[in-house]
Amino acid sequence: MTAGTDLRPTRAQSAPERTVRVEPKKHWWRRPWTAPLGLVVVAFLAYSLPPYLAFDPARSRVPSTFPAHYLFLVGHVLFGSIAMVTAVLQVWPSIRRKHPVLHRYSGRAYVFAGVLPSGLLALTVGAATPYGPVTRASDVLLAVLWLGTTWAGFRAARERRFGDHRRWMIRSFALTMSIILNRLIGPVAAIFLEPRLATTFGGSEIALGQSIAALGAWVSWTVALIAAQLWLDRKPKRRASVQ
Ligand code: HEM
Repeated sequence: MTAGTDLRPTRAQSAPERTVRVEPKKHWWRRPWTAPLGLVVVAFLAYSLPPYLAFDPARSRVPSTFPAHYLFLVGHVLFGSIAMVTAVLQVWPSIRRKHPVLHRYSGRAYVFAGVLPSGLLALTVGAATPYGPVTRASDVLLAVLWLGTTWAGFRAARERRFGDHRRWMIRSFALTMSIILNRLIGPVAAIFLEPRLATTFGGSEIALGQSIAALGAWVSWTVALIAAQLWLDRKPKRRASVQ
């Protein structure tokens, strides 16, 4: 996963994906993203989960739009939490390197106890979102992409196309984590847009609220997906011995 990673050809694989990655051992302080990622995920879940663990619809942060809405939302949030925690385990370098069995089992949990149920429920609550048509389009598209990238990554691993597996799962990971960015963009958008209630939004609080939700929804996952793609397409650094 790092620049300068050792790439070695294998005989069994097809032409476009004839490499396996042998990751050089790196101390944790040379991977400055691992601990902050874990902390951000813990903070996000500590903030997000309580209203849905209470099983009390009155505590939901999302207004209900159909009778089973709260139930679907609770399912989405619980399975989404499994997806988020197992996603961190999946990208944690020392776990991948030293515990391949744990990597395999937590990978299956990511797909079957995380993304698949949470994504299908997100598709339903997203299609019925109370935040208007622009957020609805984003929710549905994100759910489809989340399910699609994850399934493509799972299929690639089953077919032992490990280069493809890695690329699809990095995209899936970016979409999983994009929900954190979503929650940060909302308040920033609110700070900038609320003073324009009377002008840009003609005094309509509904238009203002829907615009804030839509900005968070669209910007978060498109930025996360573009960042993941740029990271995948970056040029490997030259090693000192090659220069
Ligand atoms: C990446 C694909 C995801 C999609 C498409 C998605 C979609 C949705 C939708 C549609 C809602 C209802 C709000 C609305 O109507 O707009 C929602 C709420 C929520 N989602 Fe997700 N979600 C995703 C990932 C996640 C993940 C990984 C988590 C992690 C736990 C999560 C946690 C939540 C929470 C906590 C809420 C309730 C809103 C709140 O209390 O802030 N979602 N999501």
